[in-house]
Amino acid sequence: MDEHDTPLLSLPTPGPFMRRLGVWVSLILGLGFAAPTSSQQGARSCDLCHGELEFLRQHAPDLDAARRMQVTQGGVEATAHAEYTCADCHGGFSAWPHPDGGTTESCVSCHEEQDTAWSRSIHAEPETGEPAECASCHTVHEVAWAEDLAEGPDMIRMNAGCVSCHQASAFASFDAHADSVSCAGCHSAHETRTVDSPDALMAPLRQVETCGSCHEDVATEAMDDAHGEALAEDGPETLTELEGLGHDGAPSCTTCHSGHGIVAVDGPFALDETGTCGTCHEHAVETFDDSYHGQATALGSEDVASCSDCHGTHGVFGEDDPRSMIHQANLVESCGTCHEESRAAFVQYQPHADHNDRENYPAVYWSYRAMTALLLGVFSVFGIHSALWVMRLALDARRQPVGGDG
Ligand code: HEC
Ligand code: HEC
Ligand code: HEC
Ligand code: HEC
Ligand code: HEC
Ligand code: HEC
Ligand code: HEC
Ligand code: HEC
Ligand code: HEC
Ligand code: HEC
Ligand code: HEC
Repeated sequence: MDEHDTPLLSLPTPGPFMRRLGVWVSLILGLGFAAPTSSQQGARSCDLCHGELEFLRQHAPDLDAARRMQVTQGGVEATAHAEYTCADCHGGFSAWPHPDGGTTESCVSCHEEQDTAWSRSIHAEPETGEPAECASCHTVHEVAWAEDLAEGPDMIRMNAGCVSCHQASAFASFDAHADSVSCAGCHSAHETRTVDSPDALMAPLRQVETCGSCHEDVATEAMDDAHGEALAEDGPETLTELEGLGHDGAPSCTTCHSGHGIVAVDGPFALDETGTCGTCHEHAVETFDDSYHGQATALGSEDVASCSDCHGTHGVFGEDDPRSMIHQANLVESCGTCHEESRAAFVQYQPHADHNDRENYPAVYWSYRAMTALLLGVFSVFGIHSALWVMRLALDARRQPVGGDG
């Protein structure tokens, strides 16, 4: 530490006399106190000028530049770099005017690990725009502790920094994550990748791990259910052969919840379940829509069963799996959450009965046809009856010409 080897000499400050005087006085006072005993006190001598915005303005091209130079030891002590003084990072600035050849420690010189991770990220080598460097996210002199970046005001400030470059990706006010979750929680701080990259934290196959770092219970359930398994085995891009599946692959967390615009699940989200599940299970939705529950849903009822009431959400299994809510052994209980009358006979009711599917739903198939035949029969008899009636009227009209004896 050499900041007091050379005394601070002359002050080439143009501008009003009083201001010059003020700086001189504070400098002299400052030098008096700044006996070279400790580096903390040494740093206070930097404060003499670097704490004075008015003074700095005269030496800076504009106000913004002056603000960037306004740095005090007290300010630094409130940051993660509290243990450092100016001179620990800035060598050769003790003389005035600052001689050429002053050195500044870069972030990298002390944080190699983060630099290595960062240098492989999209932020180090963007296809468009300027790189986002350490200080673009952390600032230079107001560096917060990482644990404070997980929640609270420092996190909100960090998010605002992301949004200053990514305006279109700001949280909507209704987003369940707004003000409570760090953007970097889903995109990573230093290993940010384009969202369609398989290495990105938001790649479908990594979501269980990423979203699961905060939603542990849900992720544990979702990991090995029918969807989790299909995702892990076939991947999100593989076409599955499930009948009626009008979609590529299995759902990841964001397929059902989206990434930006995640809403609390007790609001409109629940009502749109048929839309969410229906992107893939078209046939199940069609048969549901025809069912009692579906008709009541269409009429706006919120009490009737929707998909997840019978299938669960993160523990979805086929009917043959004993863990499934719709497994024969569990149906009485599953339906029983709403139907007190739920007994073995009651659950014979088929929520997806398809009247065109003779193999799986013979009873419904045949009764639909019987009803249709009956209806057709009735209408045919009526039709023939009406036709004969009309013919008879026509004949009668011809036998008695209008206005005959009126
Ligand atoms: C007498 C006033 C004064 C004192 C005391 C002072 N500086 Fe400066 N410093 C300035 C001014 C004015 C500038 C901007 C013009 C320039 O670069 O010379 C500046 C610029 C700097 C820069 C930016 C250099 C660059 O090239 O961007 C650093 C870093 C710096 N000072 C560090 C220090 C440190 C560390 C101390 C204490 C050891 C200190 N200064 C003490 C007035 C001062
Ligand atoms: C933990 C290290 C660290 C400490 C402590 C530190 N600085 Fe810096 N400072 C930096 C880095 C890194 C830069 C950025 C250099 C660059 O942009 O190339 C910088 C830049 C600056 C600049 C130039 C700002 C600009 O945008 O032109 C000034 C002036 C400055 N520091 C003054 C100080 C003063 C005064 C103190 C003490 C009160 C201090 N610094 C403490 C690391 C530090
Ligand atoms: C002279 C070495 C040095 C320089 C230069 C430096 N740092 Fe640090 N930084 C440290 C030390 C030491 C800590 C405290 C680490 C700890 O105790 O975990 C720290 C803490 C941090 C933390 C909080 C770490 C945590 O675990 O919460 C962040 C973030 C950080 N620095 C970012 C930066 C950035 C950005 C720059 C450049 C503007 C920078 N550092 C420059 C040494 C340095
Ligand atoms: C895109 C924004 C962004 C950039 C660029 C960035 N960081 Fe960070 N950094 C963060 C966030 C956010 C955290 C908080 C921890 C987290 O969310 O993982 C963090 C955490 C840290 C930590 C605490 C330890 C850790 O790894 O969690 C250090 C040290 C750090 N950053 C240094 C750096 C350095 C050095 C650079 C430049 C090479 C840099 N950061 C670039 C956003 C960024
Ligand atoms: C819950 C996880 C999550 C959080 C939190 C989150 N994102 Fe995203 N982000 C995603 C997903 C998933 C995508 C992929 C596109 C989509 O689903 O909307 C994405 C896409 C992006 C993209 C690429 C945009 C595009 O259209 O290609 C950017 C940039 C981005 N996010 C920035 C942010 C910023 C800034 C924040 C904080 C304000 C943030 N994200 C918070 C999950 C998240
Ligand atoms: C200084 C501006 C800047 C800041 C601050 C910044 N970014 Fe970026 N970000 C960029 C640029 C530039 C790209 C690359 C765009 C490109 O290549 O088209 C990028 C790319 C991304 C991508 C990939 C987008 C895609 O198309 O898939 C994500 C995700 C992202 N940033 C998230 C964040 C998050 C989260 C933060 C805050 C922790 C953040 N960014 C902070 C400038 C910034
Ligand atoms: C097949 C669609 C689907 C998938 C895939 C899915 N969810 Fe959900 N999620 C839902 C539905 C529907 C609800 C509403 C449940 C309710 O109303 O009881 C929900 C509720 C939630 C809730 C709030 C209620 C709770 O149980 O804590 C969280 C958090 C959640 N999901 C996170 C996730 C995460 C993380 C993943 C990925 C591991 C994921 N979800 C995958 C459909 C899905
Ligand atoms: C960094 C931690 C974090 C990450 C990562 C995260 N979340 Fe969240 N999530 C939260 C917090 C905190 C809440 C708000 C809880 C509250 O408001 O009580 C929340 C709320 C939610 C809700 C609404 C819950 C409800 O009860 O209505 C859903 C759904 C959700 N998250 C899904 C996801 C999905 C999907 C992902 C990944 C794409 C994800 N989250 C990633 C922390 C996180
Ligand atoms: C009242 C309870 C109930 C509701 C509501 C319900 N299901 Fe089902 N679901 C069942 C039962 C019981 C079976 C097994 C018997 C069968 O296939 O008819 C089943 C079977 C399935 C199957 C596997 C067989 C097939 O048809 O491919 C899927 C997929 C399915 N349901 C999706 C959905 C979706 C999507 C919704 C919402 C639109 C929904 N279910 C609503 C009870 C229900
Ligand atoms: C992105 C497409 C997609 C979405 C969205 C989706 N699923 Fe699935 N679902 C699948 C795939 C793929 C399988 C696995 C098929 C298999 O087992 O062969 C599956 C399996 C199932 C099964 C087990 C079927 C069986 O016979 O094994 C049920 C029940 C089911 N899903 C219900 C739902 C419900 C309820 C929702 C909405 C909350 C939903 N799914 C949303 C793609 C999807
Ligand atoms: C989330 C609650 C809920 C669940 C779970 C549920 N239902 Fe229903 N169901 C209703 C409501 C509400 C009605 C309308 C009752 C009315 O209007 O009398 C209804 C109506 C019915 C009806 C026609 C009217 C009646 O009461 O006879 C049948 C049959 C039926 N459900 C069978 C089932 C079966 C079988 C299951 C399980 C596979 C089931 N439901 C699961 C809420 C539910």
